[in-house]
Amino acid sequence: MHEQTSDPASDVASAEAAAESRHPFIRGYRAEDRADVARICLLTAAGGSDATGVYSDDSLMPDVFALPYVTYDPELAFVVDDGSGRAAGYIIGVADTAAFIDWWKREWTPGFTARHPSPGPATGHAPAFTEADLLKAGVDPERMRIAELGEYPAHLHIDLLPELQGKGFGRRLVDTLRAALAERGVAGLHLGMDANNTNARAFYDRLGFHELASSRPTSPLLGIATGAVPPA
Ligand SMILES: CC(C)(COP(=O)(O)OP(=O)(O)OC[C@H]1O[C@@H](n2cnc3c(N)ncnc32)[C@H](O)[C@@H]1OP(=O)(O)O)[C@@H](O)C(=O)NCCC(=O)NCCS
Repeated sequence: MHEQTSDPASDVASAEAAAESRHPFIRGYRAEDRADVARICLLTAAGGSDATGVYSDDSLMPDVFALPYVTYDPELAFVVDDGSGRAAGYIIGVADTAAFIDWWKREWTPGFTARHPSPGPATGHAPAFTEADLLKAGVDPERMRIAELGEYPAHLHIDLLPELQGKGFGRRLVDTLRAALAERGVAGLHLGMDANNTNARAFYDRLGFHELASSRPTSPLLGIATGAVPPA
């Protein structure tokens, strides 16, 4: 009987071919993506760059800016699958920021406080958004209550790993979320951003986001209509 032996060189070649044939694509968020979403958040949290080690606990950033969203409304979360099942980018949103604030106080703050009771040891980094600011953000969802919630009730966060940036996925993710919100009859979408993230600002400007009245140079607030048809 002929026994089949494995040829390491051809194994490598076929693994490479498989990797090359993988095409990233956008799909809905799944529960198994949770750890990838947290990782992407951390790797893009320093004004668009890697924030690993900036704070005493690498789980802090995702615990404020990513995980509450996929917990609250996973149906408004979409990922870029790298072709192997792994998420390498995401857009996460909530349709009704005011309702999200109420949920956060009730459901998120208690666990967050238990996980992050006080600032950890200094890391040698000195981010403008300090660890104390981050801890406060975790227990103060009122920071999200902007004056324009009537017209722009939804808000978003979007992050892509570097290898996926500049390929049109950001635009497609925003289109995907806008369409999902429009389907729910939500008229407007906003976001707050780090004023130093000039690349992200150029991206949002290009997509047609505009500054809201309560936007400030140090904490820009941008909004866009979803295209939802108002009820007759
Ligand atoms: C910001 C980010 C979401 C943009 O997504 P992206 O996939 O890189 O952007 P796209 O390729 O979809 O670009 C969409 C459009 O914006 C333009 N654009 C994107 N970045 C730009 C830049 N830095 N300067 C000028 N135009 C830019 C593109 O040219 C493109 O224009 P077109 O569609 O009319 O041809 C992504 O780069 C990213 O995740 N960066 C790191 C994390 C981050 O900063 N997140 C935002 C936090 S507020």
